Amino acid sequence: MTASSSAAAPQPFRSRKAAPLSGTARVPGDKSISHRSLMLGALAVGETEIHGLLEGEDVLRTATAMRLLGGEAERGADGVWRAQGRGIGGLREAPEVLDLGNAGTGTRLLMGLVAPYDFVTFFTGDASLRSRPMGRVSEPLSRMGARIVARAGGRPPLAVIGTAEPMPITYKLPVASAQVKSAILLAGLNAPGITTVIEPEPTRDHTELMLKGFGATLTVEQTPEGRAVSLTGQPEIFGRKIIVPGDPSSAAFPMAAALIVPGSDLRVPNVGLNPHRIGLIETLLEMGADIVIENRREEAGEPVGDLRVRHSALKGVTVPAERAPSMIDEYPILSVVAAFADGETRMEGLAELRVKESDRLSAMAQGLAACGVKVSEGQDSLTVTGGKAPAGGVRIPVKLDHRIGMSFLVLGMAAQKPVEIDDAEAIGTSFPGFVDLMNALGAMVTKADR
Ligand code: S3P
Repeated sequence: MTASSSAAAPQPFRSRKAAPLSGTARVPGDKSISHRSLMLGALAVGETEIHGLLEGEDVLRTATAMRLLGGEAERGADGVWRAQGRGIGGLREAPEVLDLGNAGTGTRLLMGLVAPYDFVTFFTGDASLRSRPMGRVSEPLSRMGARIVARAGGRPPLAVIGTAEPMPITYKLPVASAQVKSAILLAGLNAPGITTVIEPEPTRDHTELMLKGFGATLTVEQTPEGRAVSLTGQPEIFGRKIIVPGDPSSAAFPMAAALIVPGSDLRVPNVGLNPHRIGLIETLLEMGADIVIENRREEAGEPVGDLRVRHSALKGVTVPAERAPSMIDEYPILSVVAAFADGETRMEGLAELRVKESDRLSAMAQGLAACGVKVSEGQDSLTVTGGKAPAGGVRIPVKLDHRIGMSFLVLGMAAQKPVEIDDAEAIGTSFPGFVDLMNALGAMVTKADR
């Protein structure tokens, strides 16, 4: 599967009522940590060993980009990836346009990474990526001295004209975004002095944890304005061993399927449980979900655990806006679960969903309504009234969005009639093998007619 910038023939899939799901769902490595491992591995002195890298299309695009920028990253026959770093300041101009496919994270983080270098880097991607706003990253990077030339609305294709004399900045994030925070910190790596990012609402802190793990000097302080992360620039960072935990955002799909398919009992081992990523689990527990976390442990600086999830009678809840950063990618699948919960589930503070791989707020509202679910879409909220199994019997447009595709395939596992998606291609960006895994657990997902 490729999420290439040139459109491949669509691959429609159909999901119908599943048998009770049982067994073990091993989910692929965390996408956020995988991107960062390759990037930091290319800047560290010496070798970085990456165990459990997500080999999804998005991350493979980052691996290619790092090679074009002068790093080395290869998969060994043992499945372990090894990156040979160039040291901070050691990147070179890419001889080609960096095509990041569907990957917003790859694009935004790399824009930061290349901004403090005296060369130009060109970025493009698929139709979804080319519709996404990058101004939120361009703005702080311009303050550091880079120039960004982009299409209207800050959209790619774009060029980052790097600076030989980057300036460290102090920047307060106007939106809660780990991508923007990380882009600035990665730029700060090659700037002299201290770069500070202040986030009014805390977002995932993988960049901070990993920078420290690689030996950078980074401090985190609570200030009246928010959480202030300060990085001392131009450190020497050293190659290390990274163990990538299973992605909680991918685990969300088999978990949700187990909750809504009657009789299900699944184990989902080795799931990352970073406190900034577990808003979905918190919400599902409030809804009455039978989720048990076993064998909590820490691996390479990240908390990890094994989950056991059983079919549950669920009730609707209100999900407060403050929780959004800790479950930002999980609203599509939560809204599917909500369709099976008794009463109303109201999700607030969802404005950011409109600028993800698709406008997820409207994609979910329209798709759920087409499946016969009562749903109301606000400017930045979504209310789903659940109860009996949705009718289904429709084909949903995925809009190049992996999480929309997986969400509706999961819905089809417990709907009255099958649910189809118009194109499963995008699923490979974050969850290669999703269909085979779900079928091995008892799902009935098959190719559908074009
Ligand atoms: C990510 C941060 C989130 C998330 C994305 C991955 C990251 O985006 O939606 O899938 O790895 O930093 P925002 O930071 O823009 O909310």
